[in-house]
Amino acid sequence: MLERLLGDSPVMQALRERIIRVAATDSRVLILGPNGSGKELIAQALHQHSDRKTKPFVTLNCAAVPSELIESELFGHEKGAFTGAHERRLGRFEQAGQGTLFLDEVGDMPLAMQAKLLRVLQTGAYERIGGKAALSASSVRVLSATNKDLKTEVAAGRFREDLYFRLNVIPLRVPALRDRAGDIPSIAAACIQRSSRPDVELDESAQLALMYHTFPGNVRELENLVERMLILSSNEVLTDVDVREALELEVSPALSATLTASAAIGATSAVGLDVLAELRAQIQELARTMADYGRQTLKTGQRIVHKTGESGIIAGVRVEDGELDVLRVGETGWPVDASQPERVVWRLEDVER
Ligand SMILES: Nc1ncnc2c1ncn2[C@@H]1O[C@H](COP(=O)(O)OP(=O)(O)OP(=O)(O)O)[C@@H](O)[C@H]1O
Ligand SMILES: [Mg+2]
Repeated sequence: MLERLLGDSPVMQALRERIIRVAATDSRVLILGPNGSGKELIAQALHQHSDRKTKPFVTLNCAAVPSELIESELFGHEKGAFTGAHERRLGRFEQAGQGTLFLDEVGDMPLAMQAKLLRVLQTGAYERIGGKAALSASSVRVLSATNKDLKTEVAAGRFREDLYFRLNVIPLRVPALRDRAGDIPSIAAACIQRSSRPDVELDESAQLALMYHTFPGNVRELENLVERMLILSSNEVLTDVDVREALELEVSPALSATLTASAAIGATSAVGLDVLAELRAQIQELARTMADYGRQTLKTGQRIVHKTGESGIIAGVRVEDGELDVLRVGETGWPVDASQPERVVWRLEDVER
């Protein structure tokens, strides 16, 4: 399972090592990361690399189950416990037994349910709804995941702090794909290998074009994009033109998602990529906002120099916090090393020109 978690970036290597170390324990793990970044894959890897791997791995998606049903899903119910309870039903805790219970999207669990879950985690005991027998939950290992910032949820009163500490014994953070852009080519290649056309290749221009995209939907978006490229083009070697075509098909969702994340999409003239007209208008709008900071107009694709003397190309503008998403380039131009362009964040005030 860990083999499926691809990427040789230092942060992914460290994450894999941490997963192996943590998997061997019974500690609760909270997996944090944006949409489509691999949280579920990590939960499965934690189970597969533990002594529990022959025992059940049971998932409850807390966002997908209506709030009034979560309790019965977790703890089960006795026959006749409520209208519609025609049979005794085992809950997820009981199904997990000596295995692993994965509470996915735990940040979406209603407050009333959080209190009940907390009680079970504190005491190790619970009953089926309508039942009297005390059941033990202490042999179950609980993993949870969320794409929400749970500290913010706690501060806003939407998530219980005591539950947060119970679940978050060991945090595992999965970075967004754009923060490990060097992993993009190998993940894309793996998607192709799994497809019905495993011999298709991505040339260097295609790899660069993919690395320039900000992927608000992370690895899942990359998988979909590759699938779309394979459908749209019958070439054996795919280029940046194929990437661009496949990206254009998703301009609207990508645009809205990207702008919500307040990061401009980095398609730049430096590698000969056109910026779509709609995107260009948005980026110019962002650039105008940047000009309000008293600087020259900044736009994606523009070469800038950091106060340390390093140069880079703007791949995105984070308007909210005055940060630039920058691809480092060498003095002679793009790129320093085509296989691993380094993506860094520079503070606006550190930019010389
Ligand atoms: N590092 C990776 N290498 C290869 N494939 C990956 C990697 N991370 C995620 N994937 C793949 O990307 C897809 C999304 O992963 P997953 O469902 O684990 O993400 P998630 O964080 O749980 O997403 P969501 O927040 O939407 O629930 C899956 O098909 C998964 O196999
Ligand atoms: Mg998930």
